[in-house]
Amino acid sequence: MKIMPNALCWCGSKQKYKRCHMNYDRIVKVKKTEGFVVPKKKWIKNNAQIEGIRESGKINTTILDYVATKIHIGMTTEEIDRLICEKTKELGGIPASLGYQGYPKSVCTSINDVVCHGIPSEKDVLHDGDIINVDVSTIYKDYYSDSSRTFLVGNVKPEVEKLVRVTKECMELGLKEVAPWKTFGKMSSVIDKYAQKHGYTVVRQIGGHGVGLEFHEEPWIGYIDGFGEKLLMSPGMIFTIEPMINMGDGEIYVYEEDDWTVYTSDGLPSAQWEIMVLVTETGYEVLAW
Ligand code: MF3
Ligand code: CO
Repeated sequence: MKIMPNALCWCGSKQKYKRCHMNYDRIVKVKKTEGFVVPKKKWIKNNAQIEGIRESGKINTTILDYVATKIHIGMTTEEIDRLICEKTKELGGIPASLGYQGYPKSVCTSINDVVCHGIPSEKDVLHDGDIINVDVSTIYKDYYSDSSRTFLVGNVKPEVEKLVRVTKECMELGLKEVAPWKTFGKMSSVIDKYAQKHGYTVVRQIGGHGVGLEFHEEPWIGYIDGFGEKLLMSPGMIFTIEPMINMGDGEIYVYEEDDWTVYTSDGLPSAQWEIMVLVTETGYEVLAW
């Protein structure tokens, strides 16, 4: 479909097309002929949406900063859930995970060999030497944000601390590969190779996602070498970088009792870090971490 230069842009900015995404569409056309997979239009956020998602992301980051000061030996994950639920509301938001596809809590708390989606519970107490991923997601004025960090509890064995550090580095190295008209493949291969170099395994079945207007949007993003070699990043896209890295093999299973908690099959620890990123005209902006 051809849009007239003076018509309103498809992104919803209420700007004239020629002043908004006309040049973007020219690039898209060329990239397609070069054999790349270009982002769908609905993946591209306009400035008003970006501003809203940025605000939501600030709240999410504030909540994680707050949790970071509270984590201690003897604390239950139920307490973490309560703190996050209260803090989110205090900041004017709603926990995005609460009620999401039947999920019962305001946060995911994943300890040691829990890969992700651990459900907070009165029974889960933090012990000296544990690692715990706290995955926070917020809805603020209908805009979604999502990020997570893995915290060390007390004295963590050096080899486990290294897993947490390398996983963070995987995320940071992936972030450096975010730029307009670069492929997701670059990011994924950098992450996978760095994990492998340390003898770790990236979880293949669970990945990142577009985010902002909904909790989980397209595209799904894998962090395995070979993923997205033709799939382009473009300005206005917002997605998460959230590799889950296992110390042992990549095998995982979902706990049947609750249908949520994902464990490593070999019982070895798994770590994860997640940031929410906007692709800009020149590179990227971290919207939540
Ligand atoms: N926050 C997770 C993510 O990073 C999704 C959790 S879904 C929930 O995508 F329902 F378990 F919260
Ligand atoms: Co996520």
